[in-house]
Amino acid sequence: MTGTKTTAYGNAFTAHMVLADWTEESGWSPARTVPFGELPMHPAMVGLHYGQVVFEGLKAFRGRDGGLALFRPEENARRFRDSARRLAMPELPEEVFLAAAEELVAVDGGMLGGDGSQSLYLRPLMFASEPDLMLRPARRYTFLLIAFATGGLFGDADAISVWVCHDQSRAMPGGTGDIKCAGNYAPTYLAQNRASEKGCQQVVWLDSEERRWIEEAGAMSLFFVRGGPDGARVVTPELTGTVLPSVTRASVLDLAADLGHTPVVERVSLEQWRKECESGEMTEAFSCGTAAVVTPVSRVRDEGGDWTIGDGTPGPVTRALRGALLDVQHGRVPDHRGWLRPVPAR
Ligand SMILES: Cc1ncc(COP(=O)(O)O)c(C=O)c1O
Repeated sequence: MTGTKTTAYGNAFTAHMVLADWTEESGWSPARTVPFGELPMHPAMVGLHYGQVVFEGLKAFRGRDGGLALFRPEENARRFRDSARRLAMPELPEEVFLAAAEELVAVDGGMLGGDGSQSLYLRPLMFASEPDLMLRPARRYTFLLIAFATGGLFGDADAISVWVCHDQSRAMPGGTGDIKCAGNYAPTYLAQNRASEKGCQQVVWLDSEERRWIEEAGAMSLFFVRGGPDGARVVTPELTGTVLPSVTRASVLDLAADLGHTPVVERVSLEQWRKECESGEMTEAFSCGTAAVVTPVSRVRDEGGDWTIGDGTPGPVTRALRGALLDVQHGRVPDHRGWLRPVPAR
């Protein structure tokens, strides 16, 4: 299946994929680009049974000059290594990760039109491919890179509502919340279903010890805005080990400073969120991530009562930050920080 025929998120795959294998004896094989297609799978593959699987998510954009560029792929390459290390997997050298990403964008980037409405979402994955049901790290792994074209996870700057989960946790101290492993995601689906039943798009995750401190919104970072567009405090929870060090989160903190706001990293409790919204001190909230870009949060549903953020519409600080991020990604403003990694045309 190729092309942009379908608009659903995550299934308009490009024509190729990149593969590399690792064995204890030989280390990493050279990466190879092959037509997109199914993989052979042994029924006893370790990754399938015990979840020794890590992944990443990053995007490539077509700039105003017509060229293609990856957004901060070095950060994803580093996090991919961190994730692999945590699951006792071999680390993929960052230059191999970057070369694979450049290769796939170069061969399949042609499907991105020039109007800036779409981006290419890249999904690097590494899984234990050894067929052996002993409980120990595998001795064979496969690296895989696939991509799909997307117009965005949520509609353009549509606001979402969120539901606070009090009885389940996404991450715990000493666990894997600060890396991207496959096992972090399926346990969130039940809560996601409950959020949907309440008419909400995402779950708000609290810390697992006190169930008091806000951590993330679904698979996105969460931000709060205190004050107005002439100089706000743009607040996000600190990286405690149970929050993913999101590339978008780090980028938004920098962009907030560029726009004249004060970036703040501090714990925010659920109680504070409610009270400060009621008093008008907190004016906006948004979630962000590679897939979600910057998505306004307009309403919170909680067992203790629901509340609306600001006037329930996307606020000016959120809109400006979303615009600033997209402007850099699409090459519409100078790339002062070198966040774009151009992919040479073939
Ligand atoms: C749990 C979680 N939080 C936040 C994010 C956003 O991270 P990034 O900005 O690196 O895409 C993701 C997506 O990768 C995620 O899975």
